[in-house]
Amino acid sequence: MKVDLSGIFSDEIVKARDDYETALSTGDRIAVSEKAIHISNLLIKMAENNPSQRDHYLSAAKKWDAVSKNIPPAGKTTVKKRDAGLTSPEISSESENISELSEFRARAESCLTRTTVVWNDIGGLFRVKQLLMETVVIAGLKRPSSVKPWKGVLLFGPPGTGKTLLASAAAGSLGASFYDVKSESILSKYFGESSKLISALYNSAKEKEPSIVFFDEFDSLTKSRSESTSEASAKLLSGILTNMDGLSDKKNDRFVLTLAATNTPWDLDKAVLSRFPRRIYVSLPDPPAIKEIIKIHASDPGTERVNLDLIAEMSALNHYSGRDIQSLCQQAIWNMVHEKNPELFRLAELPFEELNRRTLKVRPLENDDFKAAFDKIKSPVTEDDLETYDSWNMEFGEV
Ligand SMILES: Nc1ncnc2c1ncn2[C@@H]1O[C@H](COP(=O)(O)OP(=O)(O)OP(=O)(O)O)[C@@H](O)[C@H]1O
Ligand SMILES: [Mg+2]
Repeated sequence: MKVDLSGIFSDEIVKARDDYETALSTGDRIAVSEKAIHISNLLIKMAENNPSQRDHYLSAAKKWDAVSKNIPPAGKTTVKKRDAGLTSPEISSESENISELSEFRARAESCLTRTTVVWNDIGGLFRVKQLLMETVVIAGLKRPSSVKPWKGVLLFGPPGTGKTLLASAAAGSLGASFYDVKSESILSKYFGESSKLISALYNSAKEKEPSIVFFDEFDSLTKSRSESTSEASAKLLSGILTNMDGLSDKKNDRFVLTLAATNTPWDLDKAVLSRFPRRIYVSLPDPPAIKEIIKIHASDPGTERVNLDLIAEMSALNHYSGRDIQSLCQQAIWNMVHEKNPELFRLAELPFEELNRRTLKVRPLENDDFKAAFDKIKSPVTEDDLETYDSWNMEFGEV
């Protein structure tokens, strides 16, 4: 079986590049040469691991090899970063470009994850799933040029309702490359350089298509506009919108779909909203959906002895999200485990091999397991919040 190691090498290359910079700043020529060789070797491994980008990585590896061999034998003992003739000027500037590109590429690809989530892992949300499936299918099909696929879809709704899960399922079902980008963290880490990162991200996504680029906490990009991060977030946002638009409508368009998620859609300004014409409300689950979610999360001990209608009714009254229902099931399962194994903690004295020979006692869940669990799970969502979501959905959403 071929194992995808590109993520591991990407992380290593970022670290090696930092080590190289450190060696440069201390003026230790041997270390500089060693670090350059190390980077070159890593790039060769990345080339072996990424047939589609083999040439790009091999060319970068060659440049780094040249850098490692081009360090003058004598000179100053203390040098400043990128100073003192450690590399010849033309190699220096070229290799800097290449290494910067590789670095952004590596950072962008560190958001790349493999997901095995499929549509059936999601309980309820029938209409939402249908809308997303349709979006994915249209983008993949051969179609007349007048039928334009959606480039951006906004998922909005209360916390824990399954927005991230839906994005993962869209990618998982397609076997697509899934770029899971936390907007807040790229803003804080790449202050000022986020446009380069976004270009690297979309270039990688195009090469590794079909791809889904998922921006979580999307509101954080517009929320902070009036503060010190406003310029960086505006740049980042315009980088995303430009790259989304840059994906042409031609017939053989690469499949790159941008999904964005937020709990506070009203924080997004009109210009951003206009680029996400498909805005899908991911609401709290209704009782039939809650029953499906319970069956997914408590399938193992089983729920055949439970009055699911009653539990679902109570969960809906408590404004539980999918995440709350998952916690409720976990809590109920623990209540059952404690009841069946009251002396569980005593086993802590046993060696691990002995534990491995024993089996936990379990039984199917019962109403009482859930009853005790309800007290522990509190939803943060209020009736007022739901009204706010509903009215935003009526005005801007795809109802
Ligand atoms: N419809 C659902 N079916 C099954 N499990 C669900 C569902 N909704 C949520 N869950 C469970 O809750 C967890 C959290 O859901 P998820 O992270 O997708 O919520 P979210 O809407 O992205 O939340 P946030 O707004 O806080 O980012 C999931 O990993 C899953 O276990
Ligand atoms: Mg999420």
